[in-house]
Amino acid sequence: MGLTLRARRGLALAVVVLLVVAGSTVGHLASVTRIALGAASEEGELLARQLYHQSSRVLASAPTPSPEVLQRDPGIRAMLEGIVGYSHTVVYAAVVDPSGRALAHSNPRLEGEVLPRRQSLEHLKEWSTLRSVLSLLGDPDVYETQVPMVLGERPFATVRVGVSTSLLRQELGRAALHSLGVALAALAVAVIVGLGVGHMLLRALRKITQGMERLARGERGAAADLTRDDELGELAARVDGLGDRTRAEGILDNLEDAVIVLNANRQVVFHNQAAEALLGRRSATALPTEHPLSTVVAELFDHGIERRNASVEVPSPDGPRELAVSSDRIIADGDRTGGGVLALRNLEPVRAVQSLVTYSQKLAALGRLTSGVAHEVKNPLNAMRIHLELVKTRLAAGTQTGVKDNLDVIAHEIQRLDRVVQGFLKFMRPQELNVGPVAVGSFLDEVARLMEPEAARAGTKIVLDIVADLPAVSGDAELLQQACTNLVTNAIQAMPDGGEVTLAARRGPQGTIEVRVSDEGVGIPPEDLDRVFRLYYTTKPGGSGIGLSMVYRIVQLHDGRIDIESEMGRGTTMVLTLPAAPP
Ligand SMILES: Nc1ncnc2c1ncn2[C@@H]1O[C@H](COP(=O)(O)OP(=O)(O)OP(=O)(O)O)[C@@H](O)[C@H]1O
Ligand SMILES: [Mg+2]
Repeated sequence: MGLTLRARRGLALAVVVLLVVAGSTVGHLASVTRIALGAASEEGELLARQLYHQSSRVLASAPTPSPEVLQRDPGIRAMLEGIVGYSHTVVYAAVVDPSGRALAHSNPRLEGEVLPRRQSLEHLKEWSTLRSVLSLLGDPDVYETQVPMVLGERPFATVRVGVSTSLLRQELGRAALHSLGVALAALAVAVIVGLGVGHMLLRALRKITQGMERLARGERGAAADLTRDDELGELAARVDGLGDRTRAEGILDNLEDAVIVLNANRQVVFHNQAAEALLGRRSATALPTEHPLSTVVAELFDHGIERRNASVEVPSPDGPRELAVSSDRIIADGDRTGGGVLALRNLEPVRAVQSLVTYSQKLAALGRLTSGVAHEVKNPLNAMRIHLELVKTRLAAGTQTGVKDNLDVIAHEIQRLDRVVQGFLKFMRPQELNVGPVAVGSFLDEVARLMEPEAARAGTKIVLDIVADLPAVSGDAELLQQACTNLVTNAIQAMPDGGEVTLAARRGPQGTIEVRVSDEGVGIPPEDLDRVFRLYYTTKPGGSGIGLSMVYRIVQLHDGRIDIESEMGRGTTMVLTLPAAPP
């Protein structure tokens, strides 16, 4: 069974504190041992020296110095007994002759005996702490402090004071017990304090963990909600930052537009859900070099070109899609490109709406163009009805006078009606477009060539002004020629006193070609600009009013547009804007 974090923490803390306490206790005991050894050795030496001086005094005051003098002296005996009784560690004190026989001994029964040789206490002091501690802990032993006495030039006796290791051990045991007590108290305090501090830290950690768990569950904007001044506070702030980031990501994910963020190495470091839906998952990878978006990325990173709604066709899980791409540079320190942001919009819905709008615009335009038809039909019908009434009245009155005239008018109106209907049918006939690249220069040349005789007859001149290397127009050559012919006819007719018709072609905005047909004629009054494209609208006596309507229709079929620039008395320019053919 695994231990809980709290149990493991308690255990680890106890072990660490135990180790620290044990280490410091051992250290403490070692130093106490050395101190005790030093003290015992100094004490032994002090006592031995006192004994030495006493013995020297006794010998000096004796008439003949002999070992017996020492044995008999009551001062020495008292001193020997006092030494053993007074000291905690000394087991005996003796004065021995050079052969090791006890002259005087704290234990009188041993006087006259040869005492065994003992190790010097000085040795014990010189040993390492470990060895001296081990010798104290081992079998009980006795170490001695020895002071030699010299009488004249020759050694006379030695003062020996025996120190017992077992007595020393007892002394040390008391110190060790005290140390152990202190150590246990320290251990208890350390564990209690440690657990308390740990509890506080754990509470903070728990808050951070909860924040992270909420983030892991996908809760946007989850936070650890902890204010502290330490590292945990910093960690909590990081979790909060992560929460803020996920909140921002949530907002980005809810966007309809796809957003891709690239780092300085052009790798995708973030994409929202819309981007994933459009491009499939591409996290933490660079866009493949053949990907259509990589051109936009290369422009952005290599030349700093930021695009606005550039149209790009990209492959997607549901087939190719047309996207409007906007790119922005993330500028790092200096002017370095630190990354980039791509915003992609699916153009399909926009295109669908656009085509619907264009369709209704076309319908509306057609409605406007054909608004004159009813009028054109009603006029002859009215005239016919009036004349039929007249015929009826005249025949009822029995007179035939004027009936022929009435019938002539009716026949004429029928012809007019027929023309109107034919014109309308011609105008409305579904045109079949043969679209292809049309070289603007050559078809305008052809128009000029065809219209030359008529222009000459009217005393006018046709001039060509075509820009070199113009891209071809995408369209139906025959229909475009027909439209331009109508425009040139109108231009010639607008200059009763002669003048120049200019056929010009040049590049227009956004990949289009502009064809301009200009004259130096009478001009169109501003209030009539709206009407000139209407079917049957004409200001000319013999005019049918179909010419410009046809031009309008042809331009519409080509997804182009027609605009009029006109000034009264100075001339008119008809501007056709047509799409250029793809290269
Ligand atoms: N270049 C021009 N300068 C001045 N007015 C013009 C010009 N082009 C057209 N118009 C005006 O627009 C009207 C309509 O022109 P549109 O070509 O449709 O018919 P139309 O020329 O009168 O007859 P037709 O059907 O024979 O062409 C003209 O009657 C004229 O008033
Ligand atoms: Mg005309």
